[in-house]
Amino acid sequence: MATNSRGQFNSRLGFVLAAAGSAVGLGNIWKFPFEVGAGGGAAFVLIYLAFCFLLCFPVMISEIAIGRKTQLNAVGAFKKLGHHNWAWIGLLGILAGVFILSFYNVVAGWAFGYFLQMVQGNFEIGQNFGSYISKWESIGLYGLVFMGVTSVIVSKGIQGGIERAAKILMPSLFVLIIGLMLYAFTLDGAMDGIEYYLVPDFSEITGEVIYSALGQAFFSLSLGMGALITYGSYVSRKQDIVRSAAMITLTDVSVAFLAGMMIFPFVFSSGIEPNGGAGLIFATLPGVFEGLGPILGIVIGATFFLLLSFAALTSTVSLLEVPVAYLVDEKKIKRPVAVWGMATLIFLLGLPSLLGNGAVEQLTSFMTLYRDGQEQMISFMDFVELIASDTFLPLGGTVIAIFTAYVWKKNNLNAELMEGRETDSKWMMSYINFAVMFFCPIILGAITIITILERFFGIQVF
Ligand code: TRP
Repeated sequence: MATNSRGQFNSRLGFVLAAAGSAVGLGNIWKFPFEVGAGGGAAFVLIYLAFCFLLCFPVMISEIAIGRKTQLNAVGAFKKLGHHNWAWIGLLGILAGVFILSFYNVVAGWAFGYFLQMVQGNFEIGQNFGSYISKWESIGLYGLVFMGVTSVIVSKGIQGGIERAAKILMPSLFVLIIGLMLYAFTLDGAMDGIEYYLVPDFSEITGEVIYSALGQAFFSLSLGMGALITYGSYVSRKQDIVRSAAMITLTDVSVAFLAGMMIFPFVFSSGIEPNGGAGLIFATLPGVFEGLGPILGIVIGATFFLLLSFAALTSTVSLLEVPVAYLVDEKKIKRPVAVWGMATLIFLLGLPSLLGNGAVEQLTSFMTLYRDGQEQMISFMDFVELIASDTFLPLGGTVIAIFTAYVWKKNNLNAELMEGRETDSKWMMSYINFAVMFFCPIILGAITIITILERFFGIQVF
């Protein structure tokens, strides 16, 4: 795929793997469970699933179609199909990606650090998560290594090799999660976890639950910032976009869903609070691995965090690829220069997130925002996450749907989707058209605007 010239995925599997590799990452295994915990359990899960299939899936199809049609990056694509005035959508997306990668890389550092701790058999790390992430020197070093590896991969255009490795490693992670899930079911208190995760209590649904479920759906599917426009630009015209998008969505949602099935029985049987925030899996899992005995605990624990780091790597590669493709295509900058320049910038932008987990007080208690009308103190990292992931991504998705339906126009979308289409079933195309023209602009647009009003200005709409 992305080499110095514009490459192409050579098979559907290649594209689906790359896009699924981008989608499956820390978002599924780290972020999803703690968002479920913060959102009160099953009600969040239900809303998240509905958003993924009803709202996000059509946006994903639009992104891939725009990319394949134009064979360009996130900014160039909008210019080509619409007008130069539309380039800002792409720029907004690139900006969102840059900020997401800045904190994502810090969390990838946690995951990789946990791998090293597991190798040493340090299961106590779970209780010491808070002090662990405040040690910015070591986490920063892991983050630096992580960004370096990501940069080497993107600069050499060797994502293909990574995808081949992903073909083995991602299913391994899947199998490991299923194995751990079955083990979790045997523990005391497991049923309470399952109930919390699967039996919705509708009184838990607040505005905040809806906003964070939407942000999580976009984040998890790598949507709303042009990552799939960029990846779509490497897709062959013989491929069925709708079918590929369905496979990507199903893979991503299944991994997140199973991660939840695994983690909540553990959380409840360990007596940990499910709404404890970003440390949920990091606090819970080491104790679980310890319970497997010293040898098996080390083997399973180290394997788990190594595979998690790998899943994060296929995501950081996609996050870095977006601004790089823009600089290479539009600004004619050489790929290695674009890669290392961007990586340095993003690493620096990530420093406040790194320091804001206990090391520096002003960044740890960074500012006050609103959550369901209540004032709430958040860290710098939470702030970046709220802006970039929960606000920019749904906003990007709304604008992409509007652009596809009313600027590029639905007939052009349909013509693009029919290229390579393997079935002639009509209902799917009808739904996509309906969603892109009405459902996404209206529902997605409304939630995005309300999110901004409530979160940033404390204006209670509901
Ligand atoms: N989807 C990835 C995850 O769940 C994160 C990610 C990779 C992403 N590329 C993206 C998020 C592009 C938004 C946009 O871990």
